[in-house]
Amino acid sequence: MGEPISDPGLMQQQLAELQQRLAQAQRLTALGELLSITTHEFNNILMTIINYAKLGLRHSDPQTQQKAFEKILTAAQRAARISHSILGMAKNRSGNLEPTNLVGLLEDTLLLLERELNKYRISVEKHYQPVPPVLANGNQIQQVLLNLIINARQAMPQGGRLTLKLWHEPATSMVHLMIRDTGCGIPPEFLPRIFDPFFTTKTGQDATGKGGTGLGLAMCKEIIQAHQGRIRVESTPGRGTAFTLMLPQAQPTAELSSLPVPLRSSQGLMPPMANAPQ
Ligand SMILES: Nc1ncnc2c1ncn2[C@@H]1O[C@H](COP(=O)(O)OP(=O)(O)OP(=O)(O)O)[C@@H](O)[C@H]1O
Ligand SMILES: [Mg+2]
Repeated sequence: MGEPISDPGLMQQQLAELQQRLAQAQRLTALGELLSITTHEFNNILMTIINYAKLGLRHSDPQTQQKAFEKILTAAQRAARISHSILGMAKNRSGNLEPTNLVGLLEDTLLLLERELNKYRISVEKHYQPVPPVLANGNQIQQVLLNLIINARQAMPQGGRLTLKLWHEPATSMVHLMIRDTGCGIPPEFLPRIFDPFFTTKTGQDATGKGGTGLGLAMCKEIIQAHQGRIRVESTPGRGTAFTLMLPQAQPTAELSSLPVPLRSSQGLMPPMANAPQ
């Protein structure tokens, strides 16, 4: 430990450096998590393919062979869809915001977590209203979706229901996405702290190797703020939690070019609320 710092300028500089390092650590954590999820998924798909290929070779009757081929085809098609969505992410590595289809991002994220949600007996209910594209960085928003859905899954160790609702508010030009679980909920005294870096109630990684650093929601908050969006939470202990994201709708290109920068007045993060999810 160095000398206590008395120079406010130096303190500011050190704080900025620390914030930058934290942001980098968060990005690495997110990347590591994505890598771990996709590797697990591909490994699982390979196991399915290998096992059904063996089954087909062992049994010469047409029905068994037909079933084996069908299973192999379905598994391989799933792998192709996953690699397609990962390649899409790899293409957009800049921090640029562009018109982005939220339904596509949600579906890609669900595809990655499908097996895990099935394993924990979590049903998924979708209520998607037609919404315009949002002005977003797809990779970053997918990180937010992964974090929120993994948190929801971890809050329902005995199974439950995940509800995804998507709607548009023309008056504010915002697209809303609600991710609601029927999990353990968040005690009111924790609600104001859940977006703090390193705040966690988890004792470490779970059986799937996820969770426990307390960086997930801090990163979500930072990403949504950088999008001039909002994130809010409502939770009832014992009943469940709902996170709602609000993201600015992308303007049609003609309007976009005539708008001053920044595109919208700053709309900060709404304070967490302790209401019951409707
Ligand atoms: N859907 C939810 N239901 C119940 N509690 C939640 C939910 N989402 C977040 N929490 C609470 O907020 C805390 C912080 O969440 P956050 O995602 O930031 O960190 P984490 O999940 O503990 O670790 P990680 O960095 O791996 O995401 C959690 O430890 C949990 O107590
Ligand atoms: Mg988390």
